[in-house]
Amino acid sequence: MWWENNFLRQKDGKLLIENKEATQWAQELGTPVFIYSRAQILSNYRTLLQYFRAHTSLEIRIHYAMKANPNHDLLKTLNQAGAWIDAVSPEEVVRALGVGFEGRQILFTGTSLSTKDLRSVFDNENVIINIDAEEQLELMKEIRDSEYRDKKIKVSVRWNPGIGSGFNPKVVTAGERAPDGTPIKFGIEENKVIPVFKKAADFGFIPIGLHQHLGSGWIKEDFAVVIHAVDRMIEKASELRGMGFDLEYLDFGGGFGPRYSEDQETFPLQQYSEYICQKISHSKLNLKAIALEPGKYLVGDGGILLLRVEYVKESYGNLFACVNAGTFNTVPRPAIYTQAQHPIINCSNLIPEAKTRITVAGNICETGDVFGKEILLPLTKRGDILAVLCAGAYCHSMASKFNLREIPQEIII
Ligand code: LLP
Repeated sequence: MWWENNFLRQKDGKLLIENKEATQWAQELGTPVFIYSRAQILSNYRTLLQYFRAHTSLEIRIHYAMKANPNHDLLKTLNQAGAWIDAVSPEEVVRALGVGFEGRQILFTGTSLSTKDLRSVFDNENVIINIDAEEQLELMKEIRDSEYRDKKIKVSVRWNPGIGSGFNPKVVTAGERAPDGTPIKFGIEENKVIPVFKKAADFGFIPIGLHQHLGSGWIKEDFAVVIHAVDRMIEKASELRGMGFDLEYLDFGGGFGPRYSEDQETFPLQQYSEYICQKISHSKLNLKAIALEPGKYLVGDGGILLLRVEYVKESYGNLFACVNAGTFNTVPRPAIYTQAQHPIINCSNLIPEAKTRITVAGNICETGDVFGKEILLPLTKRGDILAVLCAGAYCHSMASKFNLREIPQEIII
């Protein structure tokens, strides 16, 4: 099957999770339950690292975008593998430090930051602060001057290169406006980048990096835009070098994801890594490291959600597999983003003779609460265990207690 990986396998038409039948896991753990795989997550991490190492001797810093899944054991696994961290709130910084990441490995990229947020990040040693706005820099100076006078603070600048790419307008994070017209709030526009670097240095901060994040959920089609943005970043860094800002690293953000469906052509990550490395080696930049911030890619296909079918309902000719959880409390992505699809399989009937069109519906009082709309599944019945695949990223971390339903437990194997 196209989704088989380091922890999911099919055998005799049944789903095996690390060699044990999924139905048995469901029986032992109860449902709904999230299961994450160390083996798959580590394999993703190592593959990405290898792609870059094949083309450069620069240090490769993989800052895990922990917003994708801040599960403690999962963070610990990535910490032990050598990952760094992309944190977007003071709470994430605290969690990362608690797991064992060092301050110097954490890049804090906030937006709409309050004095309280900045103070609490300043309270930790060596965390690098990514500047999202000139106004944020001014606020940082004010706080530093009044309460942290002798503190040496390393910073980078998040610029908005004027182009972005993502699977849904809500997650296109660079450009002037998202494809649906929403003005994009992130980063510093091109003509302010150099003044902000100068101002940061004048204020006594230590600028060491340039950062961009274009959006999330890239597929093959996004390649051309993304490559163009890589060129722009390297040009901007070269211009900065000409002004005396010899940067330690360029951070290209995240955005590339796992394969979410059989017909999806994934983003050509190997070509991307080669392109970045070659462009940098042909430039006059004197970098120490290349940084990336993957979330989805590292953990997306390292997690699944197991659900039980409570009953199959028919109404006006529509068939529903009614399951024992709601999307909002588990895998909210399909309910939020029209294009978000998660493969759903029947764990004990993977290669059926006959398939039926059925809607996998959750237990929340909202029509949009569907895990899969009119998908093809084998005849499904009460008590069947379904697996929602690719549920490692932006699922548990975005789940709410809507309808006062509990968010399921997570286990990592
Ligand atoms: N770096 C920054 C600054 C980010 O804002 C993000 C994601 C990432 C890295 C990681 O992006 P990734 O590699 O995971 O695509 N809730 C949405 C995704 C929102 C992503 C926002 N920023 C979803 O479920 O698809």
